[in-house]
Amino acid sequence: MTAFRAWGGIIEQYRAHLPVRPSDRIVTLNEGDTPLVRADRLAAVVAPGIELYLKCEGQNPTGSFKDRGMTVAVTKALAEGVEAIICASTGNTSASAAAYAARAGIRAYVVVPRGKIALGKLSQAVMHGARVIQIEGNFDQALRLVRDVKERFPTRLALVNSVNPHRIEGQKTAAFEICDALGRAPDYHLLPVGNAGNITAYWRGYKEYHAAGRIPVLPRLMGFEAAGAAPIALGRVVPEPQTVATAIRIGNPASWKGAEAARDESGGAIEAISDGDILAAYRLLARTEGVFAEPASAISLAGALKLGASGRLRPRDVLVLTLTGHGLKDPDTAIASSEAALSIPPELERLAEVLELR
Ligand code: F0G
Repeated sequence: MTAFRAWGGIIEQYRAHLPVRPSDRIVTLNEGDTPLVRADRLAAVVAPGIELYLKCEGQNPTGSFKDRGMTVAVTKALAEGVEAIICASTGNTSASAAAYAARAGIRAYVVVPRGKIALGKLSQAVMHGARVIQIEGNFDQALRLVRDVKERFPTRLALVNSVNPHRIEGQKTAAFEICDALGRAPDYHLLPVGNAGNITAYWRGYKEYHAAGRIPVLPRLMGFEAAGAAPIALGRVVPEPQTVATAIRIGNPASWKGAEAARDESGGAIEAISDGDILAAYRLLARTEGVFAEPASAISLAGALKLGASGRLRPRDVLVLTLTGHGLKDPDTAIASSEAALSIPPELERLAEVLELR
């Protein structure tokens, strides 16, 4: 045996807070322990005198925060003895479900809206051996479908969308990590809202740490939806959601009530951000701090810029922005929103010209 001591994943780290029994076989890829990166250059753009941190969830094993929930959901699915897991997804849940099912040695079925899944996410799902089922419809319809099939065959399949309470339990550990790192909660926590599981999970995590006396004060939770897919901000279902941020192209979130509770209990807000502002923040983040997040994640920064511009921030406010997924998930949007690469012949003179050295 080697003396192997390393981060063992969120269940090992936060077991006392999670619904896992000693007899459960833990399915983990050592998710969690993601970097909390201080971003002073961005802070200066957002508002004077604030402190800003990026919680880089794209550093999880499959490149998104979904892994925190999936380790718990798949661990419990094995304990229940199901043959397979199933989910609807805008991409990241399917990538994570596929990887954790592979790890567990069970099948994964993923139901996705055809043509609306970023390339990286689809390639993950197929590489990990998931059965990918595309529908001519959107995420909301896909979720309806998998909920119905779970109801019809309850003992055969585990549904691993965030309607599964184990997903929320795992995801709340990101709030624990932030408090453990800062020694307090931030004043504002900003994050994207799609199906609204993650904002629900963060609020649960902060409240649990508060109740346990680990943090004296709770943060305000600020959730951001894409303007073309903003049911909670608008207060009504959006039947045909549209946005460049395909991860959060959702018109009828399953955890709508959880998101409203997080907003209202924390004194926060859920607001809509245009695609133009999402893409501007997407580029600004990558260019200003060297952190590459997918478009849906960049909405956290777009939201921070909006908060700053509207004069709602005070010097010394501490902000944490969750960057939910890695930028490499969606190479097409990256290329489409950047300047095209130059092409030159392999000649020194031409290179020197391009470098403006002569
Ligand atoms: N950011 C990214 C990168 C996501 O993939 C998602 C959701 C969210 C934010 C929103 O989180 O749904 O908990 O409010 N993606 C789901 C999926 C819907 O299928 O991958 P939420």
